[in-house]
Parts: sequence; structure tokens; C-alpha cells
Amino acid sequence: MKAPPIGTLAFGAVGVTAIALIIIGPPGARPTKLREPTSETVPQASSVSVAGFTLTSESIDLPFDEQQYPEGANADVINANCTSCHSASMALTQPPLSKDKWREIVIKMRDVYKAPVGEQSIPAIVDYLSTMPGQANSAEPGIERSAQDKS
Ligand code: HEC
Repeated sequence: MKAPPIGTLAFGAVGVTAIALIIIGPPGARPTKLREPTSETVPQASSVSVAGFTLTSESIDLPFDEQQYPEGANADVINANCTSCHSASMALTQPPLSKDKWREIVIKMRDVYKAPVGEQSIPAIVDYLSTMPGQANSAEPGIERSAQDKS
């Protein structure tokens, strides 16, 4: 087979390059850097369809509960030990409980749910819980105190 003349080869190379540039655009026309994500970049709902399946991304608002234990003696101890898994509302919505019952709950948090509570913090936490607003031993005015719950 006879080799094609050099002119035909050169013309072919130029033609292929021209077609490639038309398809992908000249190098300067392509974005060199992806857009930096900013705090305003909110993921948009999008959908992808492949082989008859459509996957749609949705955004939902979950209830956000970050209630802390209100100010009071040892509030810092309980806020440091007891708000990593659930907010203070878990304890603040309990009925008035005795000090022993509160101690049991704190021990349960530690032994059953593996709350990292140091032994030395337990008395302060139990004191806080048994005297917080709504509890029988609360110093909060207007809340009835029951004698048998005092301990
Ligand atoms: C390691 C995670 C974790 C930590 C830390 C934690 N808890 Fe809990 N707590 C739980 C789980 C799990 C439940 C059960 C939730 C349910 O039943 O829906 C719970 C439930 C409770 C309840 C509801 C009553 C009950 O007996 O179930 C109270 C009150 C409570 N926690 C108080 C505390 C206090 C006080 C502390 C700090 C000493 C604490 N929690 C730390 C995981 C934790």
C-alpha cells in the first residue's frame, strides 16, 4: 500500500485539531477552578434518572432541640455531662422525683447508655436535678414542695 502524501497527512492533522476545538472549545474557555463552596451555597433539590429509576433529593427540617439546663448551682457540671446525647428537656419534663430516683437515672445514663460521667460529678448532678425548677426540693417560688420527697 502506498503511503499518503505528506500534504494529506498535515491537512488531516489540522482538520482533526479543528474538529476537537469546535467540540470542547479552546483551552481558555473552560473553567480552570471549581466554584468554592460558600455559606450561601445551599444544596438544591435535584433528581437523577437512571434506567427507569428516579432518585430525588429532598431537604427536610428536623426539630432542633438544644435546650440547656437553666442557671443554678452545678448547672455547669450538668451541662457539661448531660447534653451530648439529648437536650435538657429530657430531664426538665420529668415529674417531681426523689433524690434517690434521680441518682438511679444518672447511674442508668452511665451504665446502660454509656454516658461518660465521672464518679465525682454524680453528687453535683443529682443535687442539681433534685432541686431544679419543677422538682419537689426546688427553690423556685410557687412550686409546691412535698415533705416526703425531701431527702
Ligand atoms: C450516651 C448518651 C447519653 C448521655 C450522655 C445522657 N443520656 Fe440521658 N438518655 C439517653 C438515652 C438513650 C435515653 C432514653 C431515651 C428514650 O427512651 O427515648 C435517655 C433518657 C434520659 C431521661 C428520661 C428518663 C429515663 O429514665 O429514660 C432522663 C431524665 C435523662 N436521660 C437524663 C440524663 C442526665 C441527667 C444525664 C447526665 C448524667 C444524661 N441523661 C446523659 C442517653 C444519654
